[in-house]
Amino acid sequence: MNRAGAVTGYPRAVDTPLRLEVIVGSIRPQRFAPVVADWFVRTARARPEFETGVIDLLHTPLPPDLSETAETERFRQRLAAADAFVAVTSEYNHGYPASLKTALDSAKHEWRAKPIGFVSYGGLSGGLRAVEQLRQVVAEVHLVSVRETVSFHRARTQFDADGSTGNGAAIDAADRMLSQLAWMGSALAAARASDPYPG
Ligand SMILES: Cc1cc2nc3c(=O)[nH]c(=O)nc-3n(C[C@H](O)[C@H](O)[C@H](O)COP(=O)(O)O)c2cc1C
Repeated sequence: MNRAGAVTGYPRAVDTPLRLEVIVGSIRPQRFAPVVADWFVRTARARPEFETGVIDLLHTPLPPDLSETAETERFRQRLAAADAFVAVTSEYNHGYPASLKTALDSAKHEWRAKPIGFVSYGGLSGGLRAVEQLRQVVAEVHLVSVRETVSFHRARTQFDADGSTGNGAAIDAADRMLSQLAWMGSALAAARASDPYPG
């Protein structure tokens, strides 16, 4: 304990990066998602706390009827090995993509007691309404959503031709969100290892 009474010194070795999976939600043929996702993945890969992978739902055909397939099993194995998640989400009619809901519904125990952050983009709202809906749904599968959100309104105007952004608020939010994911991911990994989560 430190002097403020907070628990410190989680046993995870600092040189063992957390496994972060970035889940790309949009599967539209003409999607903008890769621009946002690639920028975020580059940002995450610059952080030593994480080893970052990408689960692009366009290339992960999970059945919307939630039937069991080899792809579903591979997806679950990726989730099971992860310590933290980021969902990159667009907004369609004030909601998040159906592909992302299918992904959330396609696993159960693999999500539990792990943190998730959100990178959203869209038109005027920047995908923030999609994120608020996601917060409700992820709680049901025992994911823990971190406070900070990265959001791009009028997303297509926010990136250069090389995929960089000058959006200082988004850059700052990404940094804070990754710090929150690292803290929460480390704390929850240690807790899961010492005591099975009572889900
Ligand atoms: C069917 C549809 C509905 C949309 N509804 C919203 C919306 O409610 N709010 C918003 O900010 N943007 C909305 N948009 C704009 C999208 O967020 C924007 O086009 C974004 O690029 C979509 O992500 P994607 O290209 O990666 O699929 C909508 C786009 C589509 C195609």
